[in-house]
Amino acid sequence: MSRRRLFVTTALPYANGAFHIGHIMEYVQADIWVRFQRMCGHEVHFVGADDAHGAPNMLKAEAEGVTPEQLVARIAAERPAHLRGFHLGFDNWHSTHSPENTELSQDIFRRLVAAGLIDRRAIEQLYDPVKGMFLADRYVRGECPNCGAPDQYGDACENCSSVYAATALKNPRSTLSGATPVLRSSDHFFFRLSDPRCVGFLKQWLQTPGRLQPQVVNKAREWLEGAGDKALGDWDISRDPPYFGIRVPDIAEEKYLYVWLDAPIGYLASLKNYCAKKGLDFAATLNASEQIHFIGKDIIYFHTLFWPAMLKFAGAPYKVPDRVYVHGFIGVSGEKMSKSRGTGISPQRYLDIGMNPDWLRYYIAAKLNAAVEDIDFNPDDFLARVNSDLVGKYVNIASRAAGFVSKQFGGRLYDFGDESPPSWGLVVAQDDSIAEGYESREFGRVVREVMALADRVNQRFDEAKPWDLAKDPSRRDDLHRACSDALLAFFALSVYLAPILPATARRVARELFGLERELTFDDRRLRPARIAPFKHLLTRVEEKQLDALFELLPAAAEATRSPQTHAEHQQHAAREQAVSDVITIEDFAKLDLRIARIVAAEAVEGADKLVKLTLDLGGETRTVFAGIKAAYAPEALTGRLTVMVANLAPRKMRFGVSEGMILAASGDGPGIHLIAPDEGAQPGMRVK
Ligand code: MSP
Ligand code: ZN
Repeated sequence: MSRRRLFVTTALPYANGAFHIGHIMEYVQADIWVRFQRMCGHEVHFVGADDAHGAPNMLKAEAEGVTPEQLVARIAAERPAHLRGFHLGFDNWHSTHSPENTELSQDIFRRLVAAGLIDRRAIEQLYDPVKGMFLADRYVRGECPNCGAPDQYGDACENCSSVYAATALKNPRSTLSGATPVLRSSDHFFFRLSDPRCVGFLKQWLQTPGRLQPQVVNKAREWLEGAGDKALGDWDISRDPPYFGIRVPDIAEEKYLYVWLDAPIGYLASLKNYCAKKGLDFAATLNASEQIHFIGKDIIYFHTLFWPAMLKFAGAPYKVPDRVYVHGFIGVSGEKMSKSRGTGISPQRYLDIGMNPDWLRYYIAAKLNAAVEDIDFNPDDFLARVNSDLVGKYVNIASRAAGFVSKQFGGRLYDFGDESPPSWGLVVAQDDSIAEGYESREFGRVVREVMALADRVNQRFDEAKPWDLAKDPSRRDDLHRACSDALLAFFALSVYLAPILPATARRVARELFGLERELTFDDRRLRPARIAPFKHLLTRVEEKQLDALFELLPAAAEATRSPQTHAEHQQHAAREQAVSDVITIEDFAKLDLRIARIVAAEAVEGADKLVKLTLDLGGETRTVFAGIKAAYAPEALTGRLTVMVANLAPRKMRFGVSEGMILAASGDGPGIHLIAPDEGAQPGMRVK
């Protein structure tokens, strides 16, 4: 096979917050694919970057009292530890707020002007006179022009689903200042996506076989071929100040390129930055490489219409994407994860509590296929798959066979010569299917096939009855053969799993088989001659780790903090006892405390500290998980009154969503004391 040259990217995450599990899922998908390509000897440049620009980042920085540059720098500083933590092998991580991106974005803009695809025209938009800025749809709310529902966003009604322009809202107000927006005119630049040249090009680009998944082609064609209201419009690509972005070049006025124009160019900026570091020629590298983007389903529009059209009409050295691989969304326990509300599990916490990154990579791989399908992170399923499959089937082979070889044969593996060891033979015979699975991103199938092979290897090992053989000196050779075969099969399976489990596979190669170099896909046929004594390769997931991942269990958090000196510890304890900082009455009024009746209380299976409470707030019912099991038997709680924080953001826990918190007192020693109101208080009454 000829050596492929690949330029691979993942979508650039907004630089206004930490990575969430959706980002990690995308990177794991791309990283597995990239590692497989590298193991096949192909050359890959795998890059990412932060998406720094745009109004939300600017406003977030403002709310924090820092400059946008400071905000994005702070977020950027967190990235490397996460990327390393999950073994994500990016060659470079850059930023769209960079000299390379400014240069490339302005260059592409100029070339599109030269191609006659940029129009300038005045448009009327809502403007916040207090804040002094034009308002994107998301910053305007008002009454729906169609059904009159109050408090609707500027683009669509959540009540009647009608779609409209922000200017059509009745009684609009700015969510930034509360002011009534006014209509104001300003010149904007438009990319003429509806130009027949663009449409013609895109039709052909979309149809190229192998470029896009069929679902994606259909979606993009719907947009491209839409008629009437749904007709493809031109794309507004400039913004007025204040804006955090790249200046529109060659004009005297202060105008900025819309963030979605410069964001994908950030892929190229990261590659360019990487090339400079490596002494590679950017244009030549770009030109020689297949350009492949991994993205989520929510940004298909930008990557299958604007982006290829921009690149096409900018001309060489730019080239259009060769493939865009789209994935679905990951949710947690059946609930959709929302970008803005950020529910779900925290990658940071996953690493902080010392959970193994290869477990998560394995679980994500097991769930992924090449379709645009959503997947679910389910903690029980996670535990089962890692413990019964990964550890119970795969690692099990080595842990059963290695002891005999080390103790009875000095670590030497049987020399099968020209003979094909039977278990090993089974495993390597599947190589084409495994390779095809990786290439086509059918990782779930790869995992299933590998586990089915592991089952067969285990089964053959059982059938050989090594424990009996070990008791019979005349069958020493049979014992040696059976164990060696199992270990060779284990090595081949480790090669198969290496793209998914890079750290584990590396340990297998180095620590068990003494192979110092990186594994290649050809190594599936390698038959090492010896093993070192077996060390533990991969532990099981424990229930308590999942508890710690979902609930902020103090014990787990404490264990991961950096060690404190005794004096620091004392000080810390004293601080906790001292009365907190002064707050204003307005601060206090933010708390909505209510009398609640505990109508049901039950123990939560698998959690030693929690009681699941059903609370009546005078009509409304809430579920709350409370860490009071040590002090209260569930049956003693039913019927009693207590006080709850009724407006606490719901929190997803391992066992369900907790919709509030009940109040209890505790001190230095053990003991938790639930708060109870005086007689006469009724469920739903406010506590102030
Ligand atoms: N900044 C833009 C992308 C610009 S690309 C030139 C953006 N950022 S994002 O942070 O919101 O999303 C980054 C990537 O994460 C996107 O591919 C998006 O689809 C993906 N995901 C966001 N939430 C996700 C899940 N819950 N599950 C899987 N991927 C999801 O969009
Ligand atoms: Zn409506």
